[in-house]
Amino acid sequence: MIENDLFLRALKGETVDRPPVWMMRQAGRYLPEFRQLREKYDFFTRCQTPELASEITVQPIRRFEMDAAILFSDILVIPQAMNIEVQMKPDFGPYLPQPIRSQKDLDAVVVPDPKEALGYVMEAITMTKSLLQDKIPLIGFAGSPWTILCYCVQGQGSKSFDLAKGFCFTQPKAAHELLQKITDTTIAYLKEKVRAGCNAIQLFDSWGGMLSPTDYREFSLQYMQQITVALKDIAPVILFGKGCWFALGEMAKTGASALGVDWTCSPKNARYLSGGQITLQGNFDPSRLLSPPSEIKKRVHQMIDEFGKDQYIVNLGHGILPNVPVENAAAFIQAVKEYKRETV
Ligand code: CP3
Repeated sequence: MIENDLFLRALKGETVDRPPVWMMRQAGRYLPEFRQLREKYDFFTRCQTPELASEITVQPIRRFEMDAAILFSDILVIPQAMNIEVQMKPDFGPYLPQPIRSQKDLDAVVVPDPKEALGYVMEAITMTKSLLQDKIPLIGFAGSPWTILCYCVQGQGSKSFDLAKGFCFTQPKAAHELLQKITDTTIAYLKEKVRAGCNAIQLFDSWGGMLSPTDYREFSLQYMQQITVALKDIAPVILFGKGCWFALGEMAKTGASALGVDWTCSPKNARYLSGGQITLQGNFDPSRLLSPPSEIKKRVHQMIDEFGKDQYIVNLGHGILPNVPVENAAAFIQAVKEYKRETV
């Protein structure tokens, strides 16, 4: 049994004394102890070495005692395992030298056995579980098929993902074949992660908000739905779609346990759009962690009041920024832990 099960109880919609809290991208980025490791080991070495990945996963927990840990890894280990080369260039981000632009490119893409191609992730999970000693749950994650396609086709990050969208709109058959291959790989991968010890799963649809509601249904939601249906009986699933407020209603019907919300959607609107029954997670503007700690605490309490303490997981509206002072991240977590005390 997990000692602190606040997060799992909120995912079930149970009544809690205070909402649980964790931060997207909490492992890495802003912590000095992470930056030290980053100087010694390159990105994929950090992901592929279970000792490093598990150490980075628990670093923020040691400092802040969040209510859940998220495994240090990346969404792009999936295309890598599918025979698509992925590099992580310092000060640039992901770079895929041979992007998928045609049916011929697609034919070289495989659906691997995750135990073989991604065995290092499973080892990192085993090691992390033993470091966590069942004190808090461990979240496993994957990118949504659409977000993974964005990188596979564009070949790098982008403000518009114009080439990825162009591929979908000019070669829809090939696009759907790629999305299905990513979906199949992701389902097998996440099932294996749950078997290895992950207690919940989050899908990051970081670029879902690039699509119109109609295209979202066709190119993103139906694949996230397949993954959710395949996983929901073995682990709770959280769907986070950045900029996807328009899809909250449909996402709520997939069988997911919770939906992530970004900061451009008010708590009230998010409750309304998602139908008022499902647990919501979010949505503090990551840049607001640059405000002084006293201001952060005030705004976190306001946010909990607006979402309500139940069926709610406190989080940021997207990943924590690298330039956030450590004491401000601490104030965010502390504000949630103090919530009950200050309001009763
Ligand atoms: O809490 C965590 O940080 C857990 C690990 C984690 C990473 N990436 C490590 C990472 C998670 C959950 C991700 C998810 C991820 N990766 C997403 C979805 C979430 C989101 O932010 O929208 C996306 C789109 C990626 C792809 C990716 N990986 C990009 C665009 C970049 C470069 C920019 C950056 O710093 O985020 C990465 C590299 C990456 N992934 C880093 C880390 C800690 C930084 C590079 C480094 O440490 O050398």
